[in-house]
Formats: sequence, structure tokens, C-alpha cells
Amino acid sequence: DHFRTSVHASGLFALALLRLVRGAGLDTVVDVGAGRGELLRHLHQLEPDLQLLGVEVAARPADLPAAIAWTSALPESVDGLVIANEWLDNIPCHVVEVAPGGRVHVVHVDPATGEESLGQPLDHVTVPESLRQWCARWWPLDEAGPGSRAEIGTTRDAAWADVVRRVDRGLAVAVDYGHTRGDRPPFGSLRSYRDGAETAPLPDGSRDVTAHIAVDAIAAAVGGSVITQREALHALEVSGKRPNLDLAAADPAGYVRRLAEATEATELTALGGLGGFCWVVSGAGGVDPPFRSASPGIGSSGSACE
Ligand SMILES: C[S@@+](CC[C@H](N)C(=O)[O-])C[C@H]1O[C@@H](n2cnc3c(N)ncnc32)[C@H](O)[C@@H]1O
Repeated sequence: DHFRTSVHASGLFALALLRLVRGAGLDTVVDVGAGRGELLRHLHQLEPDLQLLGVEVAARPADLPAAIAWTSALPESVDGLVIANEWLDNIPCHVVEVAPGGRVHVVHVDPATGEESLGQPLDHVTVPESLRQWCARWWPLDEAGPGSRAEIGTTRDAAWADVVRRVDRGLAVAVDYGHTRGDRPPFGSLRSYRDGAETAPLPDGSRDVTAHIAVDAIAAAVGGSVITQREALHALEVSGKRPNLDLAAADPAGYVRRLAEATEATELTALGGLGGFCWVVSGAGGVDPPFRSASPGIGSSGSACE
């Protein structure tokens, strides 16, 4: 396994999603990029009546409860919640870079060695117009110096729009590391992980390759809004608030349990960590997300997500 996410950090993540599902009057959860089905297992434990479907390129885990459905293809239509936790950052994207002369070029990578080279200029006739347009709107490099990069979000926008268009009634939530136009990483965020440790990016299937998400572009593609995971979980009653000390005397075991939960909730909501992740949220078929953000596309804290 190359990753550890909110799903692994605590079962409270699943509990919060269950509250979101039930609060919206839904009874189905589709987990896109379901990993080994950890989130769906938690949900099944919490509420065995839920309809659960994992969409995952990896094979169905042998020990997955029979009640959880598993497929490699997105369903045609969904009546329920679609959640994609740390899925979009794995969708490959084009990368462009400012060359020493100041022109923006497409970056090529040799999948065998990871060696990078500059290809055609972004404004070359052979480069799709859509890349230029996306870059100009979401990640302009006009003022940027040589070596500055942009990770073009067209493939991520299209991937999420393809998921959201399938939701006839319900909610769609994409959770990921993100940035907005005011705080793009100047040299990009392409990284690779193998067995939990950072390693050189190599697109050969041997490791997890990831780049953070332009969440404002994703939200615009689906008419959604962006809030931080911290805000979302607080709204779903998951916070790191410690139990009252009086409980320690009245119910020591209950106190210890609540204290452990508070510790897990603190990890899920810490702004420098998982709490700084972005939730891109949208509703369909008359279901509205129960979150409000102060300005469209940005969390109500005013800051972009991690
Ligand atoms: C970083 S993992 C996150 C797993 C899980 N959602 C979690 O939070 O632990 C991303 C997952 O997306 C899966 N994946 C990547 N591309 C996919 C695709 N096109 N369709 C379905 N699953 C995909 C990968 O196999 C991997 O399990």
C-alpha cells in the first residue's frame, strides 16, 4: 500500500459521511477509488442497511463483506452519495513549464527513467487549445519566471464532471489536497510515494503518483463549492473537543473512549494536515449540501485548502 488517508486515520470519517447521507435522506454510497474498501467496510459496520458500491481499478478484496458491491466501471446513474477521497490527485495531468526564454512549454516524461524534457510550446498548433484555455483561466504563467510550472487540471475537471453527471439525486463529494488561484504551488506539486515513503515520480505503475488539485476549477466544472475538511467535519459534528473531566469519574471507560475519539478527530481536522484538505461538494435532484461557504470556491475560513 502506498497511501494513508483520512479513511485509515479514523472511523469517524465514515461516521461523518453517514451523517451526511442520512441528513440528506439518502441510503446509498458509491466510493470512487475505493482502495481496499476501508471506508465502505466502516460504513457497513455502522449501518448494515446501506447500499454500498466500490468503484476501483484494483481487484475486489477477498475479505470484503458480501453486502458491499464492487466494480471497475462507474455506474450509469446514482441515487445517493458519491465520495472520492484522494482519487482525483491520482488522475494524470499535463504539466507545463516556463523555459529559460520565458515561453511556456509542455513537459514530457520518459516513463522508463522519469527523465523530463520540454516539448512543444503551449501555444503550438499541435497542442490542444483546451490546455491553453485552462492555463489562462486557472493557472496563468504570464508573470512567472523560468522553471515555474502549472499542472493543467483539464483531466481532473473532466473526470469529476463525468462522475457528477451520473448523480440523478444526491450529493457528490471529492476530498483532496487542493489549491485555488491565489495560492498555486509555483513549481507544481508532482510527488510520488511507494510503501508510504516519498520517492522519485515515475509513471510506470510501480508507485502512487500524485499532484494536488485545482479545487476552484473542479468546483466550477460541476457547479460545486469548496470548504475545508475541518469545516465539513465540524458541521457533521466531528471535532477534537475533549470530553468533560467529570465523565472520567462517572464512566471511566466511556471517558477513555471519548478521549481517543477526540484525538482521532483532532488528526482529521488539523489545518496543517488532513483538516486542510478540500471538500468539493455539489448536490443534484433537489438535494442540497448542508454546508455554506463564505465565498464561492473558497472555504469560509477565507483560506484555500492544503
Ligand atoms: C490514494 S488511493 C485512495 C483510496 C481510498 N479512497 C482512501 O481514501 O483510502 C486512490 C485509489 O484510486 C484508485 N484509482 C485510480 N484511478 C482509478 C480509476 N480510474 N478508477 C477507479 N479507481 C481508480 C487507485 O487504485 C487507488 O486505490
